[in-house]
Amino acid sequence: MGVEICVEGLTKSFGHQVIWQDVSLTLPAGEVSVMLGPSGTGKSVFLKTLVGLLKPERGSITIQGRDITRLREHDLYEVRKLFGVLFQDGALFGSMNLYDNIAFPLREHTRKSESEIRRIVLEKMDMVGLIGAEGKLPGEISGGMRKRAGLARALVLDPEIILFDEPDSGLDPVRVAYLNQLIVDLNAQIDATFLIVTHDIASARQVPDNIGLLFRRELVMFGPREELLTSDEPVVRQFLNGRMQGPIGMAEEKDAAQVEQELAALGDGDRTQSPGSQAMTPRLLPGPGIPRPPRWEAIARREAELRHRKVVADA
Ligand SMILES: Nc1ncnc2c1ncn2[C@@H]1O[C@H](COP(=O)(O)OP(=O)(O)OP(=O)(O)O)[C@@H](O)[C@H]1O
Ligand SMILES: [Mg+2]
Repeated sequence: MGVEICVEGLTKSFGHQVIWQDVSLTLPAGEVSVMLGPSGTGKSVFLKTLVGLLKPERGSITIQGRDITRLREHDLYEVRKLFGVLFQDGALFGSMNLYDNIAFPLREHTRKSESEIRRIVLEKMDMVGLIGAEGKLPGEISGGMRKRAGLARALVLDPEIILFDEPDSGLDPVRVAYLNQLIVDLNAQIDATFLIVTHDIASARQVPDNIGLLFRRELVMFGPREELLTSDEPVVRQFLNGRMQGPIGMAEEKDAAQVEQELAALGDGDRTQSPGSQAMTPRLLPGPGIPRPPRWEAIARREAELRHRKVVADA
C-alpha cells in the first residue's frame, strides 16, 4: 500500500520567473514527508505540479511507472484518483454545505449509493471533529473548521497519496497536536504516502519520516528526518531553529557579508554543539490500539544508524 513518487530534475517557471529548478527527490511509498521553505519559495506550486494541475518545463514525476508530466488529460484524470489533496485555501465550494462538499469527490468519482456515501462522509467528519456541522456553509464557520472540512474531503476516496498544504495553519495549538496525531494514526492505518507542507517546526520535527527544504529556487536538502534535524547546513539549521540569523532574510535574500556577520555574532555556542549529541525530538507514535506499520522497524534502524555515524564522525 502507498505508492512511491519519484521526481527528477523538475523545473517550474511562470514566464521569466523561475520558481524552482532541478528538483529531484523520492517520496518513499507509505512514508510521511514534510516540505519546508520560506513563504513564496513555491511549496504550493510544487504540490500542484505533483497532482498535474501545473505543468513543469523540465523533468519528470514518475508514479506507478508513468511520467505524469506527459499524460494526456484523460489519463491524468485516472491518476488523480490516487491523490487526496488539501489545498492551502481549503478550496471548498462556497455554495455547498460541509456535507455536500465532503461528499463531492465520492459523487464525482464513484458509483457509491447515497447511503454508502453518507456512512463515509460521517466517518470522516467524525474523524476531524466536525459532527453536527454538516449543514453549515463554508462562509459560516471558522477558518480552522474549513481546514478540517478540507481534510475530511481529502480522505473520502481512500487515497494512496495524500498532499496537505499547511493543514495546521489557522488551528490553535491543541488542534495542531490532535491533527499531528491524526496524521500519524492515519499513516499507520492506511499506509498512504504523505507529503505535508507546513511552517510549524514542532510538527516538522516530530511527525515525518523525511524532511525537505526549498530555498532560493532549489531543493536545499531532502532526506530522513534525523539527517535534516542534525544537519550543519546553515539554511537548514536556521529554518529548523526558527532564527533570524542566517542566510534566510525577510525578503528571502541576504547578502553574503551580512550572513557572515550574523553567524559570527551568534558565536560558536550554536555551531559547536555537536549535532550528534543533540537531543533528537522523539517521533510521535500512533495512538493506543493502532499497530505500528512494519516499515517503522526499517526506519528506526535507519535513524539509529545515522545517529551512530554522526557520533563516530564527531568523536
Ligand atoms: N498560477 C500562477 N501564475 C503565476 N505565478 C504564480 C502562480 N502560482 C504561484 N505563482 C508564484 O509562484 C511563487 C511561489 O508561490 P507558492 O504559492 O508556491 O509559494 P509558497 O511557498 O506556497 O508560499 P507560502 O508559504 O506563503 O504559502 C510566488 O511568487 C507566486 O506568486
Ligand atoms: Mg503555499
